[in-house]
Amino acid sequence: MEVLKSKKILQDFIERQKEMGKKIGFAPTMGALHDGHLSLYKLAREENDLVVSSIFVNPTQFNNAEDLEKYPRDINRDILILEKSGLVDAVYIPEVTDIYPEKTESRHYDFDGLENEMEGKSRPGHFDGVGTVVEELFLQVKPDSAYFGEKDFQQLAIIRKMTEKKKLPIKIIGVPIFRAENGLALSSRNQRLDKDRREASKIIYETLKKVNEWFRVLTVPEIKQRVQEVFDNQRGMQLEYFLIADEKTLKETDFFYKDRSFRAFIVVVVDGVRLIDNIHLD
Ligand code: PAF
Repeated sequence: MEVLKSKKILQDFIERQKEMGKKIGFAPTMGALHDGHLSLYKLAREENDLVVSSIFVNPTQFNNAEDLEKYPRDINRDILILEKSGLVDAVYIPEVTDIYPEKTESRHYDFDGLENEMEGKSRPGHFDGVGTVVEELFLQVKPDSAYFGEKDFQQLAIIRKMTEKKKLPIKIIGVPIFRAENGLALSSRNQRLDKDRREASKIIYETLKKVNEWFRVLTVPEIKQRVQEVFDNQRGMQLEYFLIADEKTLKETDFFYKDRSFRAFIVVVVDGVRLIDNIHLD
């Protein structure tokens, strides 16, 4: 596996691959790799000639300095995981100045309102940071397809919107949520929970599965009430939000319309660690 440590080295590498007519699949990350990332690479491997990943802890998408500082970083461990997986041909590890040559600031985007829903309400500016880094990485890596996990469903929708608005010739692929055996959605943040709390957190996905059973049997307010009751009875867990939204607009709904698709979204804080999850309702 090639480890590409600057924009110039990456660009020479990409140019050579393009000359050989290679189809490039790209999965950007912020490191702290886990099996969820490997599921992105697996799909990218199946659909492309070459798989490129990146590891870059993007400062502009964090809402405060403490969160940025606390973000787990272990580049040597990540490189070992990538090498062992045998799924990735090259990893790009840029310097901050490769992504932000002048000021470390995000551009402002109009994502047609997607940015104002859910995470946008509690994390102002977060999606501008994500848009900025992903657009820059797309321009440098020039992939044919790019892979993102459905756990961050709003992020995926925003990246789709940005790619469409900027007319970038890149196919955006959403990859189903990768779950631990107990159903907990894999996330780099899970490392901050001890074994007991990780086990207790399986209640999040269990509740989402119940929501899918209640869908079309109960009303939205009734479902919300039941979810609230579940978490009122969980020690050390706070339900930050639970809502059901239209899958396209991400706008919260109070009513199920027949011809639209819906998804339930949840954020639970477990011992100070913010866990997010979602489920398509069918
Ligand atoms: O999902 C992530 O890991 C990050 O938000 C991303 C897409 C790599 C941008 O920094």
